[in-house]
Amino acid sequence: MKLPAEVLEVLTDPRTVITGDRVSIPFELGRPLYEKVNKILKEAGGKWDGRKSVRAHVFPHPVEEFMRHALLAQEFVSGRDLGWFPTPPPVVELLLDHAGIRPDMTVLEPEAGTGAIAGPAAGRGAVVDCVELDERRARVLEEGGYARRVVRGNFLTDLQPLDYEVGFDRVVMNPPFHEAMEHVNHALGFLGDDAMLVAVLPDGVRWREDRAHTEFRRVVEDSGGEFFPLPRDAFEEVGARVHTVVALVPTGGGDCQMRNHSWHLRRPRQLDLFAV
Ligand SMILES: C[S@@+](CC[C@H](N)C(=O)[O-])C[C@H]1O[C@@H](n2cnc3c(N)ncnc32)[C@H](O)[C@@H]1O
Repeated sequence: MKLPAEVLEVLTDPRTVITGDRVSIPFELGRPLYEKVNKILKEAGGKWDGRKSVRAHVFPHPVEEFMRHALLAQEFVSGRDLGWFPTPPPVVELLLDHAGIRPDMTVLEPEAGTGAIAGPAAGRGAVVDCVELDERRARVLEEGGYARRVVRGNFLTDLQPLDYEVGFDRVVMNPPFHEAMEHVNHALGFLGDDAMLVAVLPDGVRWREDRAHTEFRRVVEDSGGEFFPLPRDAFEEVGARVHTVVALVPTGGGDCQMRNHSWHLRRPRQLDLFAV
């Protein structure tokens, strides 16, 4: 998104302080200009904190580098452009409870954002691998220091199930909703045996009639999985009013039919049969 010249002027004003996780503008702006600046900072992921001790737009990650790049380029990638809605803590707790995270379990967070899920999963003792497409957020994950591995890249194309020798115990995810089915289907391939995928998804997954959704419902049903609707205001604190559900998809034991990690391991041998 292009930064309007007048907003750029405010953000590059020597009085504007951009430090740590916040941007503070300690001088008066006319209402229309304030609205414009506020809109841009919110788009970028900032939230106005009006408390006397703060009075700044606060971001869920360090913002200096990001703003430096944005101001140099005079544009920025909006958080929303990549479907970024950090999972609020009460939803994270619910996901981790459903996932039954225990110490030393391996967990994949395939679109980890700034670690809203990955951090607390590691806090419960899990060994967590993260993937994140957005450079800034990936850097925040690396700096967090709790992940075994952070892949900066596209989960759909840069990470394949057979990059791992064994599948994960859990995949816990809140993918970008505009391509939720692609992400969730790809994620199934990373599940070990006796494993489980726990995903926040748009409610449409329960009723949309296209092939991808119908097929996913069949996988959930065959696996003995289920959907739990979340309250409508579950994501309100991060500025999103979306109707969401949690999908629980267990793999069952070694004879499971799902295209999980074992299925991918077996697959090359099956193809070899056709090669002779
Ligand atoms: C809805 S947010 C959720 C972030 C994090 N899972 C959480 O719960 O806070 C989706 C995240 O997916 C990232 N993302 C979008 N497309 C991606 C892709 N193809 N591969 C990896 N990450 C992606 C976005 O940058 C964004 O941080």
